[in-house]
Amino acid sequence: MMKKFLLSLAVGAALATSAQAATISVGTEATFAPFEFMDEQTKQLTGFDMEIIEAVAKEMGDDVRVHNMGFDALIPSLQTGIIDVTVAAMTITPERQKRVDFTDPYYQSGLVIMVRKEDAKKYTNFESLEGQRLCAQIGTTGAMMAKRVKNAKVTEFNSITEAFMELKTKGCTAVINDKPVVDYYLVRRGDETVTTVPQVFDAEHYGMAVKKGNKALIEKLNEGLKRIRANGVYDKIFTKWFGAH
Ligand code: ARG
Repeated sequence: MMKKFLLSLAVGAALATSAQAATISVGTEATFAPFEFMDEQTKQLTGFDMEIIEAVAKEMGDDVRVHNMGFDALIPSLQTGIIDVTVAAMTITPERQKRVDFTDPYYQSGLVIMVRKEDAKKYTNFESLEGQRLCAQIGTTGAMMAKRVKNAKVTEFNSITEAFMELKTKGCTAVINDKPVVDYYLVRRGDETVTTVPQVFDAEHYGMAVKKGNKALIEKLNEGLKRIRANGVYDKIFTKWFGAH
C-alpha cells in the first residue's frame, strides 16, 4: 500500500516537472555571423548565440524554437508575445532598457568602422567621416552611432550583408557595425577589398531581452547562464566560435 502510494507520488512529481518544461520561443535576426546565421550546408540556424541559448534551455530542462525576423521587429515581437526572448547579439542600452528587460550580459562587444582598403588612410576615425554616406543595419547601435556623425547621410539596411555589399559597390563610405561580426567577415570571407579603422569604441555588452516584467523568464535565463559558465559549457562554445580567451 505504502509502496503504491510512494510510486504514485513519484509519477505525479515526474509529471509535474515535465509539465513545467517549456518551449522557449526565441527571436533572432540571422545575418549576423558568427552569432546567428544560416549554415549553408545544413540549412540550419547556427552560431554562438544559437548554441548559448540551446545550452541554457537544456540546462533548465526546456526546448527552444527559433524565429528569424528583422532586427527592428524583435522588440515589438516581445511586446506582442510572438516571441519570449531575443537572442540576437543585442546590446544592452539604456534606451532599450526602458522597453524590455535584459538578462545578465553574456558577451562583451564593441563597434568598429569598416571602409574600403583604398580609403583606409583617409578615414581613420569617427570625426573623419563627417558629411559622408554611412551604412548600417536597421535599428542597431551601429546605425545610432552613424547618425551621430556630423552631416552624415545614413542608410539603414535590413541585413548587415546588404550594408557590406553597399560598401563594396561604393554606395557608402563606411559601415558601422559590431567588431566581432566585421572581424569574422574579413577573416572568413578573406575579403581583402575592405578593412577596419584602428579607432576602438566603447565596450558594449550583449544581453537576452524579454518582455518588461517577465521576471520568471529572466531568472531562469540568468540561472542557466550562471550554470553553463560554471560547468565549462560556455567556455567550450566561446572557444569554438572565437578561439581561446
Ligand atoms: N549589437 C548591435 C545592436 O544591438 C547589433 C545587433 C544586430 N544583431 C543581429 N542579429 N543582426 O544594435
